[in-house]
Amino acid sequence: MTITAIYCRSDNGFIGKDNRLLFNIPEDLKFFKQMTEGHVVVMGRKTWESLPEKFRPLPNRTNVVLSRDKNLKLDGAEVCNSIEDAIYRYADKHIFIIGGEQVYNTAMSYVNDVIVTHVFLDAEGDVKAPKLDAELYMCQNMYFSTTINDKKIHYKRTRYINLKNYGVKPIKLSFE
Ligand SMILES: NC(=O)c1ccc[n+]([C@@H]2O[C@H](COP(=O)([O-])OP(=O)(O)OC[C@H]3O[C@@H](n4cnc5c(N)ncnc54)[C@H](OP(=O)(O)O)[C@@H]3O)[C@@H](O)[C@H]2O)c1
Repeated sequence: MTITAIYCRSDNGFIGKDNRLLFNIPEDLKFFKQMTEGHVVVMGRKTWESLPEKFRPLPNRTNVVLSRDKNLKLDGAEVCNSIEDAIYRYADKHIFIIGGEQVYNTAMSYVNDVIVTHVFLDAEGDVKAPKLDAELYMCQNMYFSTTINDKKIHYKRTRYINLKNYGVKPIKLSFE
């Protein structure tokens, strides 16, 4: 089993505002799609609701939504009432934790690695990226945007390996 958290954060540590993403970076969405396709994506009920209807459920992926509501039924997604339940059900798969803040915080003690797109811009937000303890994670640089794209967004992508839960499969280190 591999559990990977993946997110995009601003320089000042935010990941969203008003139940929306902060940035629109097509290359990063493409990267997210390529990483997660064919696998299990676990998200919070609010993140599910934030997805545009035409992308809900996220295609070619098993969509799992965390909610404490035991009666919740969603078209195209399986509802789990705890992170442990989701992990147990998909123990033989690669699970991607795709947000938001509450779900990252719930899942961090289980993750093998974390893939972070760090945008070099401050943004106003109301939900924060999880804190990564420098003593717990080994950092591997994956990609640095050398050219500023048409939206003038400059970013780096880093993979942090959780040394406590070591045992992750190698993945391609750069992607364009
Ligand atoms: N930048 C990025 O990469 C990224 C990625 C994803 C999301 N986001 C952003 O994050 C924001 C949403 O994050 P959020 O923290 O407000 O909400 P969230 O984590 O998406 O969803 C929270 C909901 O998930 C359920 N939940 C959370 N922990 C649970 C647990 N341990 N067991 C069972 N259910 C649990 C609860 O649903 P119930 O209330 O139904 O019980 C809770 O209200 C949005 O702005 C979104 O755009 C950003």
